[in-house]
Amino acid sequence: MALDTRTDRRPSFAGLLWRSTVGKKAAMAVSGIVMLLYLVVHMLGNLKIFFGAADFNAYAGWLRTIGEPFLHHEWFLWIARLVLLAAVVTHAVAAYQLSRRDIAARPARYAHPRRRASYATRTMRWGGVILGLFIVWHILDLTTLTVNPRAEAGHPYENVVATFSTWYGNVVYIVAMLALGLHIRHGFWSAAQTLGANRPGRDRLLKQLANLLAAALTLGFIAVPVSVMTGVVS
Ligand code: HEM
Repeated sequence: MALDTRTDRRPSFAGLLWRSTVGKKAAMAVSGIVMLLYLVVHMLGNLKIFFGAADFNAYAGWLRTIGEPFLHHEWFLWIARLVLLAAVVTHAVAAYQLSRRDIAARPARYAHPRRRASYATRTMRWGGVILGLFIVWHILDLTTLTVNPRAEAGHPYENVVATFSTWYGNVVYIVAMLALGLHIRHGFWSAAQTLGANRPGRDRLLKQLANLLAAALTLGFIAVPVSVMTGVVS
């Protein structure tokens, strides 16, 4: 096994895996699945908004007490935040490095210097950038409340209603949710291929599952701004 010239040490298995293209794709698939699981739970939790302010705010309060008394107040929330942060960073760094490799390995580089990446690749790249920016805005809006029009700590129901009472709040969230749907549709299918879940005869099922997940998440999330806009939630 080759020595690492920078450290004179044998690279670890994880290090070797991370440096390989297949390892980076696997890291993207696994971190993507972690985020996907979070999103399914988050979307279902958000639907509690239809049960009214008391239920929704109590649910947000309960999120801070999970695991007590074994865990201290908000520990579970902080563990979830750290896991999600690790997933987002892994996903973004691997995506960036894979796209650099892809550009460097393009055989037609000299003949067609302006040859563009495929439609799916471009959609995934731009979708990823939009989602990254959205997550920053979303945290400033509903977690730190920095940009929230109401910004009442401990009252997420009222803050969510305030966000979707502004035109820009609706535009930001709806555009991001549509980008999310497209990203999951293609990403789920790519992850299944990387992790070897696709077999002849199973491809159709996996594609249908990808479509179903993407549609359920997009519609489930968009239901909240649409309900505030139409006065169903106020
Ligand atoms: C209409 C759509 C959405 C609504 C109404 C919504 C609502 C909320 C609310 C109220 C919180 C604060 C929870 C609390 O502190 O009690 C929150 C946190 C969060 N949401 Fe969303 N969310 C939406 C979509 C999304 C999407 C699409 C993503 C990811 C792409 C996302 C990721 C997060 C993250 C990472 C947090 C931070 C958790 C934390 O650190 O406290 N949300 N969301």
